[in-house]
Amino acid sequence: MSLAGEYSNWVEIDLEAIEGNVRQCLQRTGAQVMAVVKANGYGHGAVPVARAAVRAGATWCGVARLDEALELRQAGMDCPILILGATPVQRLREAIAARVSMAVWEAGQVRAAAEAAAAVGQPARLHLKVDTGMTRLGSEPEDAPELARQLASTPGVVFEGLFTHFARADEEDLAPTDEQTRQFRLVLDQIETAGVRPPLVHAANSAAGLACPAACFDMVRVGIALYGLHPSAECQLPEGFRPVLSWKSQLTQIRVTPPGRGVGYGHAYVTRKLERIGVVPVGYGDGYRRVPGNRVLVGGRVVPVVGNVCMDQLMVQLDEVPETRVGDEVVLIGRQGQAELTAEDLGAIWGTFSYEVVCGLSARVARVSIG
Ligand SMILES: Cc1ncc(COP(=O)(O)O)c(C=O)c1O
Repeated sequence: MSLAGEYSNWVEIDLEAIEGNVRQCLQRTGAQVMAVVKANGYGHGAVPVARAAVRAGATWCGVARLDEALELRQAGMDCPILILGATPVQRLREAIAARVSMAVWEAGQVRAAAEAAAAVGQPARLHLKVDTGMTRLGSEPEDAPELARQLASTPGVVFEGLFTHFARADEEDLAPTDEQTRQFRLVLDQIETAGVRPPLVHAANSAAGLACPAACFDMVRVGIALYGLHPSAECQLPEGFRPVLSWKSQLTQIRVTPPGRGVGYGHAYVTRKLERIGVVPVGYGDGYRRVPGNRVLVGGRVVPVVGNVCMDQLMVQLDEVPETRVGDEVVLIGRQGQAELTAEDLGAIWGTFSYEVVCGLSARVARVSIG
């Protein structure tokens, strides 16, 4: 399929791959799956991803912010949704009215949610977040049992879940994750002893879900694996997961240039001989980074990006693929014939990781669902 006639560049989102990845997580963890679709579904498009994930058996969606939850509700999605981050007190009523569950870690948040619930006339669904070693959001473990009792006994509040988040589950050495799991288990034991265990206990992200069965509890919160991307070089997805996103464009012009010709802003590249330079309508305005060493696929081969990446365009050196013509497909992430460039490869060139590559795709890049 080519969408070159319609778009300068676009990403193709393989929804069957999303479904397959969800099924892999269900089978491998034996727990419920929360599809983490924050940041516009890691750049893939939150609504189609969430729909595909739920079709395949995910029971929850996870987001970072209220507006992301409301986007799913406005699209008609009825499944439980948890806001993993903070919800501003001014917007508690909106969240409650939309039946969106929220994370809390302080007594004041529980009281504020109860007041908002009374005003709306609907319950506030809350998950207690305990910090077991991430030093981000969460209560101290020793404060959690008292907070759990408060959550269980406050009118208007449904104590729906207890959770934590791992800092180092994507590393080869799982000792830090085992230690966080141990801390979390101690908190859970105390909460169970107090007779106030909520129905959903969850801790694992993709890496922990796949590598640490003891961390799976009732539900795993799966982000990167849903998109078929490896959590890290040390924590690779097993067979059966498939990447979901391909980023494509086409050659809009081919210049045949004599030696000594400067290419693009600052003439960061100067031709060395008679060269074919292709122009591709992708730039840093689309989320493609302006760094040296970029490569793309053209004509089934890896070719270098030359000169500085512009806001809307970049230039490639086509000497390795002399048969290419204007209109030929350019792949920035994905496969072309036998060749492949992954989000992980691009992350390595950009000095970052795949999460940031896909989340950085800008709004103007069309997301086209396939499958
Ligand atoms: C609280 C929480 N849970 C789960 C996830 C999913 O993590 P991953 O994409 O590594 O599976 C995230 C993502 O950062 C998160 O912040």
